Amino acid sequence: MEGNKTLIAYVTKGGATEESAKKIAEVLRSKYQLEVDLVDLNEEKVPELTQYRNIVVGSGVRAGMVYGKAKKFLENDFNGKQIAFYVSSSMAGTPGSHDNAKTRFVENTLTKYPKINPVSTEAFGGRIRYLRKTMLDNTDMSKVEAWAEELGKKFIW
Ligand SMILES: Cc1cc2nc3c(=O)[nH]c(=O)nc-3n(C[C@H](O)[C@H](O)[C@H](O)COP(=O)(O)O)c2cc1C
Repeated sequence: MEGNKTLIAYVTKGGATEESAKKIAEVLRSKYQLEVDLVDLNEEKVPELTQYRNIVVGSGVRAGMVYGKAKKFLENDFNGKQIAFYVSSSMAGTPGSHDNAKTRFVENTLTKYPKINPVSTEAFGGRIRYLRKTMLDNTDMSKVEAWAEELGKKFIW
């Protein structure tokens, strides 16, 4: 593995996790000049991971669970890489519920992958659309941007 390439691999059903993935990529590229690949795990094949030093995994949450394709991706061997993990969940964006959502959806998920020792994790809000109407939207791209800036500092080392 050479260089300092970053992979952002995400799974979305409603689009919030993709929007965050794109924001994170934008910050890492523009503020830290990092080379970033974005991969939608619903649409694209998992790339060869040996080329990446940093990997950000993002997933939405439905019915209390992180999406299956994200869990499958977390089974990969990330030995020697810097890993970050985030979720999009309406509960995480609800005032007073963020910490509980982070424990349930981020920390409890990662206990199943004891080899992963993440450099950073976060739970962001989500968005629910039904019949083309937005029923609930507690996404906050300024929080995503701030998290990406902290990630960038870790990834450039
Ligand atoms: C059928 C359905 C079930 C959901 N279940 C949960 C849930 O259990 N907990 C939660 O915090 N949010 C839940 N949500 C809200 C999602 O977390 C939100 O839509 C988020 O944006 C999902 O990420 P995505 O847009 O990237 O797919 C649910 C949304 C839908 C449509």
